[in-house]
Amino acid sequence: MNSVKWLIRILLVFYLSHFCFPADIISLHHFIQDNNHEVIVSSGNTFALGFFSPGSSRNRYVGIWYHQIPEKTVVWVANRDNPIKDTSGILRIDSRGNLVLFQENQTLPVWSTNISIAGTRNSVAQILDSGNLVLIQNDTRKALLWQSFGHPTNTWLSFMKLGFNLKTGLNQVYTSWKSPDDPGVGNYSFKMIQGVSPQMVLYKGSGPLWRSGTWTGKRWSGIPEMTQNFIFRDSFVNTADELSFSSDAKNASIITRWITNLDKVALALFTRVFS
Ligand SMILES: *[C@@H]1O[C@H](CO)[C@@H](O)[C@H](O)[C@H]1NC(C)=O
Ligand SMILES: *[C@@H]1O[C@H](CO)[C@@H](O)[C@H](O)[C@H]1NC(C)=O
Ligand SMILES: *[C@@H]1O[C@H](CO)[C@@H](O)[C@H](O)[C@H]1NC(C)=O
Ligand SMILES: *[C@@H]1O[C@H](CO)[C@@H](O)[C@H](O)[C@H]1NC(C)=O
Ligand SMILES: *[C@@H]1O[C@H](CO)[C@@H](O)[C@H](O)[C@H]1NC(C)=O
Repeated sequence: MNSVKWLIRILLVFYLSHFCFPADIISLHHFIQDNNHEVIVSSGNTFALGFFSPGSSRNRYVGIWYHQIPEKTVVWVANRDNPIKDTSGILRIDSRGNLVLFQENQTLPVWSTNISIAGTRNSVAQILDSGNLVLIQNDTRKALLWQSFGHPTNTWLSFMKLGFNLKTGLNQVYTSWKSPDDPGVGNYSFKMIQGVSPQMVLYKGSGPLWRSGTWTGKRWSGIPEMTQNFIFRDSFVNTADELSFSSDAKNASIITRWITNLDKVALALFTRVFS
């Protein structure tokens, strides 16, 4: 009898926590809490978003990782320079419609999407199968308010951009972690450089370590490996509104990512990982 009760209780909890909300969103009515080990998972089960501790650290961060790779492989971190020291973190939509990370009993947020939102403020955060975390206005227009792809950390996924949105001034730069235990902004950065002949440049501090060379119309002059047989499909945009580069694997079943990493030189700083 008791065990039947428990089974019903477990089924009910499972039902409440897994079926009342789409599992890939955070909304005004559905937040996630570190204490409860809650995550949201993209609809095709590719990426998960939740709380984690990197390496041997006990600090807590909100991040995005591959849902199906057993070794936690983090591709984006929200509060990278502002860790939470306990498991009281709560990630929710606040009354102004931002996605905000709070620590229990603290009034100041640890991290926030921090944009001013007009209109309904009825926004919803959703993790997509591309690895992009998007904040969308939940009205008929479904306007995109903010996206993690616009605020990269150290990992460049397919369809993410490197470079400038010249209309908004957004500069998408990739920066290394401080160490495997600390996702804070490290000393290596990979950026687009504006000018007559834009280039991608890898820096250590303010010193350039590697340059891509200029865009020839088909490839970067410093990357002869980019031939027609290259596994990536590349997109270089140089207009009044945008100066950016992005690439995605031609074969969608190949997952690729590039990492701005530590302790290695030049091109080796970018590791392409297949799985
Ligand atoms: C938050 O405040 C409550 C009530 O004062 C207290 O019981 C709880 O331990 C506090 N939590 C943290 C993480 O400090
Ligand atoms: C939000 O943005 C303002 C202005 O840029 C900044 O001063 C503030 O620290 C930011 N707050 C958070 C929580 O990121
Ligand atoms: C989106 O808005 C509709 C209409 O107001 C509402 O019924 C629905 O619950 C909202 N969705 C979420 C995830 O909050
Ligand atoms: C970054 O560079 C500075 C100056 O060289 C150094 O003091 C610091 O330890 C470096 N940080 C990391 C995380 O390597
Ligand atoms: C894509 O990659 C998979 C796995 O390596 C392979 O089986 C498939 O044939 C490839 N498809 C194309 C169109 O090359």
